[in-house]
Amino acid sequence: MDKLLSNGSIVGSLPEDYVFPPELRPGNLKIPFGSNIPVIDLHEANHEAKSNTIQKIINASEEFGFFQVINHGISLNLMSEVRGVLKELFEMPAEEKQKLCSNDPSKTCKMFTSSVNYATEKVHLWRDNFRHPCHPLEQWQHLWPQNPTRYRECVGLFSVEVKKLASRILSLIGEGLGLKCGYFDNDVSGSVLLSINHYPPCPEPSLTLGITKHSDPNLITILLQDHVCGLQVLKDGNWIAVEPIPNAFVVNVGYQLQIISNGKLRSAEHRVVTNSHESRTSAAFLVGPTNDCLIEPAQALIDEHHPAIFRSFKYKEFLYCYGAKLDDVGKVLKSFETHKN
Ligand code: OGA
Ligand code: NI
Repeated sequence: MDKLLSNGSIVGSLPEDYVFPPELRPGNLKIPFGSNIPVIDLHEANHEAKSNTIQKIINASEEFGFFQVINHGISLNLMSEVRGVLKELFEMPAEEKQKLCSNDPSKTCKMFTSSVNYATEKVHLWRDNFRHPCHPLEQWQHLWPQNPTRYRECVGLFSVEVKKLASRILSLIGEGLGLKCGYFDNDVSGSVLLSINHYPPCPEPSLTLGITKHSDPNLITILLQDHVCGLQVLKDGNWIAVEPIPNAFVVNVGYQLQIISNGKLRSAEHRVVTNSHESRTSAAFLVGPTNDCLIEPAQALIDEHHPAIFRSFKYKEFLYCYGAKLDDVGKVLKSFETHKN
């Protein structure tokens, strides 16, 4: 695979195989920011305002499936170093990036363009991606790239901080749902995949997408956005743009949190649009279950008036189904619902 967009392999107009069918194209690229996507000040959660913060998080997760967090405690210096390293990663010479490229499905640490299904997909996505697991750190860090030279150290420190932040947010969510303390502190959040997206400037943003409409399969996602817009969330049938807020993280509910909360929290569909003047790099920390983890609606949320709306399953069964239905991920949840008739 030598077709990375970040190598400048495509110049001029948008090739045919990046053009989406009209009904999937972004439409109006200038949709307003969803200023109603809640911004939560986590500093307040340390004080008497904690229950207030919890309520805001629960409301945002029910209504939007998305919120942003500020004053989250992660050092701004570290965040800016990570942004620098990620930019450097995609700016490396083609030969250096080629060493990281693979289309071997069993390889956990790899760079590719568009998606892992490049060879068979109908339309390509306007993005390059580099992904690898990052928790527990000792198990994975030695497999990460040696270039950029600061990558291992910087992304390692950052991954540990983001995992802690995710645990803190999950513990606030657990408390808000009425689950026992530490409910998510086990193999249900035992895996973290770092997925770094790089979207170069695109010659015709109205015809293509950086990522198509999807919901995240995992438990919860913590996203370091760029200062460049691109992320959009589907709310009541309309796309709303997520405003880039300097040094904030975007948090979104994944399918597993929707299932464990027995449908109370919403895993919202989202997508990424491109633009013609600036590249955008984002880092999504996909916190989720280990493969053999058993997932089911939390017992504490089920009684005769609130029957379980999802069955129990092993996470790997979900992932298999998610991978197989990538063309229509909206259908995935259906196959995990309980049969009511
Ligand atoms: C994802 C995702 C959003 C972005 O990686 O699942 O939705 O802004 N990324 O890159
Ligand atoms: Ni996503």
